[in-house]
Amino acid sequence: MRGTRTGLRTLSNMCGIIGYVGEQPALEVVLSGLRRLEYRGYDSAGVAVVGGGVLRTARRAGRLANLEKVLDESGEQMPGTTGMGHTRWATHGGPTDVNAHPHTDCTGAVAVIHNGIIENFAELRSELEAAGHELSSETDTEVVAHLLEIEIARAAAAGPAASSVSSGSVSSGFGQPVASEHPVTEALRVVCRRLRGAFTLVVLHRDHPGVVVGARRNSPLVVGLGVGEAFLASDVSAFIAHTREALEIGQDQVVEARPEGVTVYDFDGTPVEGRRYHVDWDASAAEKGGFPYFMLKEISEQPEALADTLRGRLSSEGAIVLDEERLSDQDFRDIDKVFIVACGTAYHAGLIAKYAIEHWTRLPCEVEMASEFRYRDPVLDRSTLVIAISQSGETLDTLMAVKHAREQKARVLAICNTNGSTIPRESDAVLYTRCGPEVGVAATKTFLGQVAACLLVGLFLAQTRGVLYGDEVAAYVDRLQRMPELVRRTLGTVEPVRELARSLADAKAVLFLGRHVGYPVALEGALKLKELAYMHAEGFPAGELKHGPIALIEPGLPVVVVVPSPRGRANLHGKVVSNIQEVRARGARTIVIAEDGDTDVEPYADHLIRVPATSSLFAPLVTTLPLQVFACELALARGLDVDQPRNLAKSVTVE
Ligand code: G6P
Repeated sequence: MRGTRTGLRTLSNMCGIIGYVGEQPALEVVLSGLRRLEYRGYDSAGVAVVGGGVLRTARRAGRLANLEKVLDESGEQMPGTTGMGHTRWATHGGPTDVNAHPHTDCTGAVAVIHNGIIENFAELRSELEAAGHELSSETDTEVVAHLLEIEIARAAAAGPAASSVSSGSVSSGFGQPVASEHPVTEALRVVCRRLRGAFTLVVLHRDHPGVVVGARRNSPLVVGLGVGEAFLASDVSAFIAHTREALEIGQDQVVEARPEGVTVYDFDGTPVEGRRYHVDWDASAAEKGGFPYFMLKEISEQPEALADTLRGRLSSEGAIVLDEERLSDQDFRDIDKVFIVACGTAYHAGLIAKYAIEHWTRLPCEVEMASEFRYRDPVLDRSTLVIAISQSGETLDTLMAVKHAREQKARVLAICNTNGSTIPRESDAVLYTRCGPEVGVAATKTFLGQVAACLLVGLFLAQTRGVLYGDEVAAYVDRLQRMPELVRRTLGTVEPVRELARSLADAKAVLFLGRHVGYPVALEGALKLKELAYMHAEGFPAGELKHGPIALIEPGLPVVVVVPSPRGRANLHGKVVSNIQEVRARGARTIVIAEDGDTDVEPYADHLIRVPATSSLFAPLVTTLPLQVFACELALARGLDVDQPRNLAKSVTVE
């Protein structure tokens, strides 16, 4: 037995994956792809290259830089033009060298990288060990390498005829048609049928240079189609520097990539056509563009991101247009309640959406964390609309909520930033936020895009159901389209917020208060501070404070208050001003975000942050900005990496 088996489950989760086959040195292509994917996970990294009849692998715990250092220092040559790489984010067990991917079989001929969780790995592992296989890591992934070893050997023993299905009748994604299914492809789809859970797998074989094979179920995989080369990756940013032509891989499909073409099969071996698409952003959009951190760049990009979300949403007939609509107007008219499901920052966008949707459509609207939604057995039927909000389109909690909703016959509308990702594909209608790639783990510009998209969906529903007239909708859209300019103005005035944040770098905790749409903004401000500065931060409805949290107030505690407009919400405004006085009377240091011209707050604000006046429902598009800047600057003052905060990942593809 090569390794020891411990009771510890070390599972491979939302990782970054890239596979390459072509004419370039694979190691370079793979490492540059991993640099772009590192936001997906950064516990450990590994690469494999096939060349000269040898399969070489290297892997290291820690960030990608650790692996690159080891490769540099060892002078390890990994010649070959077929390769793959992996950045890992683990849920259980230590991110060690041994658990880093790639994982290999007993013979060292098969290498596998994986994103997801193989739920039945324990029983598969027992079966493999009983058959004499030696597993060296604690991962679920390693079982796949050994299952492939068995399957490839079995097919070889059965002879060439048995190892190829539907010879000659395959579809090619591009380039020349590919003759027949490769033995590694066949083995992978056979093995996939035995796996339960979520996985993207990419496989190399020592004896088969010039082929890289991938498979997916409930986990992302996209193909990049170059000239004489192909890429398999978790997302397009990994190969955008090489090609903008991409191919979607559907659920339960395997893809065989060779320099001359790509072929896709379902898990039964039936060839299928993937959907090709052109990526409408380029490599420069995924680079830092002179900013020291992606997050700073992404904060600054918000006026354009918001404008892109809003662009061209009103048809010449004055109707709001979605990007994809597989439902009729009558379906939307039949809706009698709305649920919004999302996680993290997207959930906060959903909380804001509730105010607009209920106000404009008069439909009841509930907002629920996607991870809780399906487990409480919500009451859903074909007249329920479920709105799923997800930047990545791959968050597994949200995807599972969507699947549950569809099983119950509910209609699903997705708000998403990633073209071709899983959640929009599983939905009946889609509105893309079009914010471009967001690399910083903490969502910023995509939050603004999500809020704007939610407002558009609210207007769309109101219009389709006849609650708002076309000219009323057009007036709202017109006002919305003026918001990017207000965002630009607000971002131009945040320097004092940076100074304030630096002065609070040693604070132990910060509270955030708000009412109405200011409450989700308070939650988002607190989440940003937790994620980035690792600081205790909580958001509360300002009115709820007196029912418990006010006990937390002690002298000097910074309390941020998001104040509603005195014009739009006069009754609430007065109450929030009272809430500011309550915390200040108990010694809090008040940081007040209020619109231009609101003089009522001045006597009670230790620090006053001004934002432009706007409609109440649109206010989060500006009040959120100082909170993003505050959290980012405070984290930087603490010497932290704001692009890759500890323990987090941009796209969480585990439940
Ligand atoms: C992760 C990220 C958060 C994000 C959440 C939902 O937890 O760290 O920043 O808000 O996932 O992501 P989604 O891609 O579904 O919007």
